[in-house]
Amino acid sequence: MRVDGEGRGLSLFARYLARQFAEPSGLIGRLVIAPWLNRIGRRLNALALKLLAPQPGERSLEVGYGGGGLLRRLARLRPARLVGVDVSAAVPRQIAGAELVRAEAAALPFADRSFDAVVSVSVLHFWLRLEPVLAEFGRVLRAGGRLVLVFEPPEALRRWAGHRHGFQLWSEADVVAAAAASGLALEERRQGSGRKPDFFVGLRFRKGAG
Ligand SMILES: C[S@@+](CC[C@H](N)C(=O)[O-])C[C@H]1O[C@@H](n2cnc3c(N)ncnc32)[C@H](O)[C@@H]1O
Repeated sequence: MRVDGEGRGLSLFARYLARQFAEPSGLIGRLVIAPWLNRIGRRLNALALKLLAPQPGERSLEVGYGGGGLLRRLARLRPARLVGVDVSAAVPRQIAGAELVRAEAAALPFADRSFDAVVSVSVLHFWLRLEPVLAEFGRVLRAGGRLVLVFEPPEALRRWAGHRHGFQLWSEADVVAAAAASGLALEERRQGSGRKPDFFVGLRFRKGAG
């Protein structure tokens, strides 16, 4: 009985965490989860930065900025414009050098071709369909602009019980195909590993001229 109880407790905790990762909420989201995301995401954000290779004077957008760790690093590189978008009300609302907007990835409140670069780390698991979001990223990118996505592939995500609570297990092939449908061609792939997450992938796409 005790083992069952513990199992149920762990499963409820995994579900709670999964919900908080999908959209930090309340005081716990603000004070615990958002800063924690920066720690968990450190190596993934480093990979995203390497793939993005941001240049001074660029206009960059991060979608699903969570605790804001990557935005803070991007802000130091003298961008012309730096914007962070997140659906959550519990993530930081002020980060020096960045405009922060509460919005949904599939409905970005920006004009066509507003950005040179778009980046999103550990967010695509929360999109029920990839195509509408990647089409939106393609819309706000200028021709020749780049998109960087970093995420855990299914074999890595499955090792964590919380993936059962609302995470989409998108494969690299799914992501590459959905990006291609929006005129975003795969340019570079890198992977990283460590502990929790054990394994993750970074993909850089370039928007064609058409
Ligand atoms: C797992 S966290 C990753 C945060 C950060 N990118 C990192 O790697 O540390 C996912 C973040 O994406 C946001 N998010 C989830 N779905 C989103 C969506 N459809 N549009 C915009 N933001 C979203 C959540 O609110 C959360 O802050």
